[in-house]
Amino acid sequence: MRRTILGLILSAGLALAAGRGKQPSFYRGHDLSSLLMLEESDNFFFVDTARGNATRPADAILADGGMNAVRLRIWVNPSDGVYGLNYTLTLAKRFQAAGHKLYLDFHFADSWADPQKQPIPAAWPKSDVTSLARTLRAYVADTLMAFARAGVELDMVSLGNEIRHGMLWPVGYVDVDTQPFSKLVQNFTNVATLYKAARAGVDDATTSWAWDSGVKQPQVMIHIDNGWNQTLQERWFGALTGAGVPPSAWDVFGFSFYPFYGTAATFDNLRGSLHALALKYGKPIHVVETDYPAVCNGQYNPIPESSEPEIPYSVPGQTEWMHDVIKVVQEVPGGLGRGVWYWEPAWLNNTSLGSDCNDAILFQADYSQWPKTIGYSRPSVNFFL
Ligand SMILES: *[C@@H]1O[C@H](CO)[C@@H](O)[C@H](O)[C@H]1NC(C)=O
Ligand SMILES: *[C@@H]1O[C@H](CO)[C@@H](O)[C@H](O)[C@H]1NC(C)=O
Ligand SMILES: *[C@@H]1O[C@H](CO)[C@@H](O)[C@H](O)[C@H]1NC(C)=O
Ligand SMILES: *[C@@H]1O[C@H](CO)[C@@H](O)[C@H](O)[C@H]1NC(C)=O
Ligand SMILES: *[C@@H]1O[C@H](CO)[C@@H](O)[C@H](O)[C@H]1NC(C)=O
Ligand SMILES: *[C@@H]1O[C@H](CO)[C@@H](O)[C@H](O)[C@H]1NC(C)=O
Repeated sequence: MRRTILGLILSAGLALAAGRGKQPSFYRGHDLSSLLMLEESDNFFFVDTARGNATRPADAILADGGMNAVRLRIWVNPSDGVYGLNYTLTLAKRFQAAGHKLYLDFHFADSWADPQKQPIPAAWPKSDVTSLARTLRAYVADTLMAFARAGVELDMVSLGNEIRHGMLWPVGYVDVDTQPFSKLVQNFTNVATLYKAARAGVDDATTSWAWDSGVKQPQVMIHIDNGWNQTLQERWFGALTGAGVPPSAWDVFGFSFYPFYGTAATFDNLRGSLHALALKYGKPIHVVETDYPAVCNGQYNPIPESSEPEIPYSVPGQTEWMHDVIKVVQEVPGGLGRGVWYWEPAWLNNTSLGSDCNDAILFQADYSQWPKTIGYSRPSVNFFL
C-alpha cells in the first residue's frame, strides 16, 4: 500500500474531525434510495405528526426515530440517472453530513437486480467471463474511488444485490438446487470468478497509489435473500467456498427477510439460520432488507398470508414485526447480529414495496392534492427507539 505521509495525516485528521470510522454497536438502518427522486420532483412532502405536522425531510423524521445508518443502491448506467453514480453520491454526501453510516448496495446492472433478474449492464461484455470480470473489477474500484474523492466514507458495501441466483446473467447464473454437490461447485465457477473480481476491485481502491489519501476499507458484504432458509444459505456459501472463494473474501453477511413471500419466513427459521451461520463462519450478520405492511386489504391482489400471522397488517403490526426482527438479530450468538435495515420506508408513490399489499411504508400518503403528495409520519417511524 503506497500512501504519502501527508495523505495519511490528512485522512487521519479528517476522520477524527468528522468523528468517523467507529462502528456503531448496532446499525439501525433505512434504505432511502428513492428519496432524492421524490424530492426533486417537488411534489412529495413529509410531515412530522409528532411535531405539530411540521414539514420536514423524511430522513430527519427517521433520524428522530433512531436511524443511524442509510443504505443506498447503485446502478451502473440507468437511463434516467436515478440510482446512478452522481445521484447516489448526492444522497451519500447528505446522509454522511447528517452523521449516518453509509452502506452502498451494488446491483451490477443498469436496473433492478434480484433473484428474478441480474441483467449485465448494456456497455459491459456479454459472454466472456474473463473480460466481464475485468470490467467488474475496474467498475468497483472506480466507483469506490469516486466516493472517496467526493469525501464520502463508505462503511459497508455489498457486492451484488440478492445474489441467490448469482449475478450478471447468464454468465454468473447459479442454482443451489442443482444436484449433486460436486455439480453445484462446478456451477459456482463463474460466480466465484466474478465475486473475486469485485472483491479485488475493493482492494484496488483501498490500495490505489493514484489516490493519495486512500479509500478507507469498507466492510464487504454478500447479500442473499430468504435469510430464514438455512438449507439455502448453507448450500450457497458452501458452494461459493467450494468454488475457491475463501471465507476471508467477505466480512459480513446480509440477508433479506420478508413476511409476504412464503409462510416459512418465520422468526424461528430466521433464528435457526442466523445462529448456524454465526457458529460456522463467525462473521457479523445483518438483516439488510425487511418491511411490514400497514395496509393489506385485498383491493388489488389476494392478501398474502403473513409468515407470522398473529402480527396484523397494520401500523402497530409494523412496529411489532420490527421489534421481533431486531430481537432475533440481537440474539445471534457471539454478539454477531449487528444491524437491521428497513427497505424504502418513505417511497410515497410506490407504497406496496414489491408486495401484494397496498402499503408497507412508514408514512401515510395523502394523494388528495395529486400530484402533490403528503406523507404523514406513522408511529412506526419510531420502531428503533
Ligand atoms: C395533522 O394533519 C392531519 C391530517 O390533515 C390532521 O388530522 C391532524 O389534526 C393534524 N394535526 C395537527 C397537530 O395539526
Ligand atoms: C448530479 O446530481 C444532482 C442531484 O440529482 C443534480 O442536481 C446534478 O445536476 C447532477 N450533476 C450531473 C453532472 O449530472
Ligand atoms: C448453473 O446451473 C443452472 C441450472 O442448472 C444453469 O442454468 C447454469 O447455466 C449453470 N451455470 C454455470 C456457470 O454452469
Ligand atoms: C430453501 O432453500 C432450498 C435451497 O434452495 C430449497 O430447495 C427449499 O425449497 C427452500 N425451502 C423453502 C421452504 O422454500
Ligand atoms: C414517483 O415519482 C417520481 C417523481 O415524480 C417519478 O419519477 C417516478 O416514476 C414515480 N414512481 C412511481 C412508481 O410512480
Ligand atoms: C416500485 O418498487 C418495486 C420493488 O419493490 C420495483 O420493482 C418497481 O420497479 C418500483 N417502481 C418504480 C417505478 O421504480
